[in-house]
This record gives sequence, C-alpha cells and structure tokens, in this order.
Amino acid sequence: MASVRAAGRLQPAARTALQAGISQQTRGYASLFAGEPSGPEIKTQIPGPKSQQAIKELDKVFDTRAVNMLADYTQSKGNYIVDPDGNVLLDVYAQIASIPVGYNNPTLAKAAQSPEMINSLINRPALGNFPSHDWAQILETGILSVAPKGLDQVFTATAGSDANECAFKAAFMYKAQQRRGGPDVEFTAEELSSCMNNSLPGASNLSILSFKSAFHGRLFGTLSTTRSKPIHKLDIPAFDWPQATFPLLKYPLEEHATENAKAEADALADVERLITTFPHPPAAVIVEPIQSEGGDNHASPAFFRGLRELTAKHDVLFIVDEVQTGIGATGKFWAHEHWDLPTPPDMVTFSKKAQTAGYYYGNPALRPNKPYRQFNTWMGDPARAILFRGIIDEVKRLNLVEHTAKTGDYLYAGIEKLAVKYPGQFKNLRGKGQGTFIAFDSPQRDAFLKKAKTVGVNIGGSGESAVRLRPMLIFDKVHADILLEAMEKIVKM
Ligand SMILES: Cc1ncc(COP(=O)(O)O)c(C=O)c1O
Repeated sequence: MASVRAAGRLQPAARTALQAGISQQTRGYASLFAGEPSGPEIKTQIPGPKSQQAIKELDKVFDTRAVNMLADYTQSKGNYIVDPDGNVLLDVYAQIASIPVGYNNPTLAKAAQSPEMINSLINRPALGNFPSHDWAQILETGILSVAPKGLDQVFTATAGSDANECAFKAAFMYKAQQRRGGPDVEFTAEELSSCMNNSLPGASNLSILSFKSAFHGRLFGTLSTTRSKPIHKLDIPAFDWPQATFPLLKYPLEEHATENAKAEADALADVERLITTFPHPPAAVIVEPIQSEGGDNHASPAFFRGLRELTAKHDVLFIVDEVQTGIGATGKFWAHEHWDLPTPPDMVTFSKKAQTAGYYYGNPALRPNKPYRQFNTWMGDPARAILFRGIIDEVKRLNLVEHTAKTGDYLYAGIEKLAVKYPGQFKNLRGKGQGTFIAFDSPQRDAFLKKAKTVGVNIGGSGESAVRLRPMLIFDKVHADILLEAMEKIVKM
C-alpha cells in the first residue's frame, strides 16, 4: 500500500523521500494520466494563508459560506486538486461528482483549442431557432452515440435541474395531449384563457411522483420533487406532489435479504397507492438509480424493474435521473443498465460528468405537438456538447467504464477490510458491484471529512452521515491504496 505523505507540515527533504517511496509503489501501474502528481502533499493547514486571503477578498463580492476549499485549477492535474498554498489533494469528490477524466486532461484541452470549439464558444447559438449546420453531426457523434438503449432522441439543456424540469414539462404535455385525444386536437378557448391565470383546465393538475430523500435539483419544479434536506426547500412555494417511500435497505445485504425484500415490496405498494389515489395524478415517476445527495441509498434491480412495471401498468411515465450516476462511475455507462429492464425508461436525464445536460427519450410523442412549447434561448450549448464528445472518446480510448468497475471492486474490498478492523467507523458499506460509487456511514461524518483534508484527500458527504466516494473515472488502484491508507489514518486520529 502506498504511504500517505500528508500528515502535517513536512520538511522538503522528508517530502522528497516520501515522494520517492510512492513513485516506487506506483511503478507497477500503467498511468492513465501522464504527469499526474505521484501522491498528495500537504504543506499548510487548509485553508492556508494564501487561501484565507483569497477567500477574504472573494467574500467581499461573492458569498463564500459554502466554500469547501479554494482551488488553483491551473495547477490541478488528473486525480489531484491543488490549492493556492501548494497543497495537493487526491480528489475523490471531483466537483460534486462532475469531473470524469481528470483536471487538465490533455485530450479535452486539445478539443477546447479546436477551431470547431472556438467557433461554438464565440458564436453561441439559440439552438431552437438557429442550430448550426453541423448540430446533428455533433449530437450523433457525441451525446447520441452513448444514448441509453431504446432512446434515440435528446432534448439538450444546461444543468441537471434544468434537464429534469424539461423532462417534467415533456411528461405533462404528453399526458395532457393523451387526455385531449391526441396531438391534432386543438386547445379549447377555456384552456387558452385559464392557463394565463395559472388555473385549470389550461394549467395542469398533474404531478410528478418522487421518493423520500430524493434529490432532483433546486429550481422551482424540481425542488418540489427534492426531499433530501429542508434547507434546500425552505421558503420556496411548492407543488402538492406525492412522495413515495424509498426502501431504506439494511446492511450487509446478505444478512437482511428477507427484510430488504419486504421493504422494497412495501415501497412499490406505496408507489401504486399514490399513483392510483393521489388527488393530483402523477404524469411521471422520477427516481435516481442511487439516491445520491440524500445519503447514497441503493435499491435492488428487482425494485427498479418493479417500478418500470408499475409505471407501464398505470400508463405513467418513468424518468430515470442519471445526473449523478450517469457516465461510468457505477461500472456501467448508465447506472440503470444494471437493472435489466423489460422496456427502457421513458426519459433519462443527465448532466454532471457529461459537462452538458438534457434528457434522452425514444417515443416521438414526447415531442410536444407544437413548436415553442419546449423551448428556451440556448437549449444547451454546442461547446459543452463537443466537450462531452471528447469525454466519450477518452472514456472509450482508455476503456474507463470497465476500468472503473474493476477499481471499484478493489476499493470496495479494501473498505470491507477496514470495516472489519474498525467496526463502528465504516458502517453500512454500500455500492458493491457498483464501480467506485461507494459510500458508508461514519459516526462523526463531518469531522471525518475535515480530517481527510489534513491527510491529503478531498472527500464529500451526503445525507446525514454518509461519506460518499465520487472519484473520477481515471481513479486507479494506486489511488485506491492512497485513499484506503488515508481513511485508516483518519479513524485513528
Ligand atoms: C440526481 C441529481 N439530480 C439533479 C441534480 C441537480 O443538478 P444541478 O445541480 O446541475 O442542477 C443533482 C445535483 O446534485 C443530482 O445529484
């Protein structure tokens, strides 16, 4: 196991010696990222004097109360984030799970300097009105080349919340069109006038069903489906939409099979009850493959197949929110590939590691019956779509999905050992067979995350007590070793 050389302030000589040690350790691995630092290096407390000064300056013009650490992205490389004081941290939080192939990835830097990219950046189109001559080609060679099975069209958006809200709108318009009798039935005069007063029948009484502890974003519509923490929702007007029970599984799974199966059956029964009785009928059910912000809550493939069956039975759309789980981290390109669904989801939303956003769909009837019903100025961004294409190329070139599946198994086995050695410190370990999308509960989670910085690792939390690991796809066994040793140090502190 490689040594963590980050405890406190190291003298330059000691640092060099330790660096040499880690280089030897890493020699057996073919690096996925040339020129990446060989390990963490902590020179000051975090934030150090330069960071503190910069945060003070920033605070005059920008709210810094949520700042986790200040970064110097010019110096960050691969899996390592660097701060203005020269501290080098192994980053397994990766900008809230949104960096796929490393800081300053040379392939992406090359894509960023291409004439195509420059043109897209300085001539940003209003895509609905003025798409470029090559927009179809950019989509087909990029976003659509990795479309989930059965979904061959996309509506592009700007961020995860935006993608989800657009998917909700598509669902509402689709269901209303069904009720009206099809795309060719004209709106009534009453519908046209009442929608201007935000009232029925022109405005909809339909809803989106989400789950307890779900997170789908912070815009007005998505916030009504987000149930992770009150702080996100306080003071914001919200829709009266249903929330179903999410099956909170007990770990280890092998020891609680019967109980967990019952929890999932109960949750499905709750979904069916809400679909059939909630006063505002759901147009769609939205679910995360792994509830991420809400604490890394998993459910079995059987549960999700049950959801697909229920939504099909009651003619309710099934939206899978892959904003956090999408693109490789679970050991599949899309996490819902783990489920072996009988029919594809109706819509799959994405953002984060894609660096762009949107929703995939297959049924042409999900395009509203008239133009401008699903529309905004930018409707996404070709520059970001080109970047995603570069990410896809890099993921394929380095076989990063399979790589992440294997590294994840290795990391999971390492944490399992830690959990045996330190029972109580690594509780409810979850994410087996789910790539590096791993989490556990810590008795002093916030202190754990703070201490992690002192040993050179940037880690994130979620929910009340979860430590969630969200490394990049270029995270390798050598990084896993560094992380495992760091986590052991943390619990011994
Ligand atoms: C599952 C999921 N959906 C939606 C969102 C919202 O995405 P954004 O913050 O880009 O609006 C997030 C963000 O963390 C997420 O994890």
